[in-house]
Amino acid sequence: MELLARLHTILRLNRYRRIAEKQSELLIAYDKTIESWLSALDRRDKGTEDHTNRVTQMTLKFAQAAGFRDEELADIRRGTLLHDMGKLGIPDSILLKEDKLTEEEWQVMRLHPVYAYQWLSSIEFLLPALDIPYCHHERWDGSGYPRGLIGAEIPLAARLFAVVDVWDALLSDRPYRKAWSGKDAIKYIEDQAGKHFDPQVVHEYLKMIIEY
Ligand SMILES: [Fe+2]
Repeated sequence: MELLARLHTILRLNRYRRIAEKQSELLIAYDKTIESWLSALDRRDKGTEDHTNRVTQMTLKFAQAAGFRDEELADIRRGTLLHDMGKLGIPDSILLKEDKLTEEEWQVMRLHPVYAYQWLSSIEFLLPALDIPYCHHERWDGSGYPRGLIGAEIPLAARLFAVVDVWDALLSDRPYRKAWSGKDAIKYIEDQAGKHFDPQVVHEYLKMIIEY
């Protein structure tokens, strides 16, 4: 009887171990799928992958300092990698246009967070990662898109990411302008506290940048 009970325990433990192994294999497969989507986007919109990898590292560091737990950081990582996924739905004539966009073209461009939400929200595994793809263009003062959320209505992960995303964009060369200096970028971010960005988030971010 004792031997049988021990055998049952061993079999049960083996079953749990196999389930855990399958789950971690699935997680790896999901994450590899996300990275492939990112490469697909980079094929169309050159330089996306480098920018995304930089902002992912920075956002994770910032979110960790802000007290997010490990499981939440995994979702933030996925959300950051996928933040501009919706741009796959924007026509080349708009996405790759070198001149300024017209108002009609901006209306199309502003749909990219909505596309990301529509495509990804049917994947249960990605639901907790959607705050950044859906809300990264919202602004603290309510003038952002797609929903015009105001202040703390904007999920915290998206408020953190918004600062990092703009910071990285300012410090990078663009076809129409050279990269800004760190000093000018800090001034701009400070100036946007309470307008584009959550003032508390700006305070914490600049503290991190200066210590960095
Ligand atoms: Fe975007």
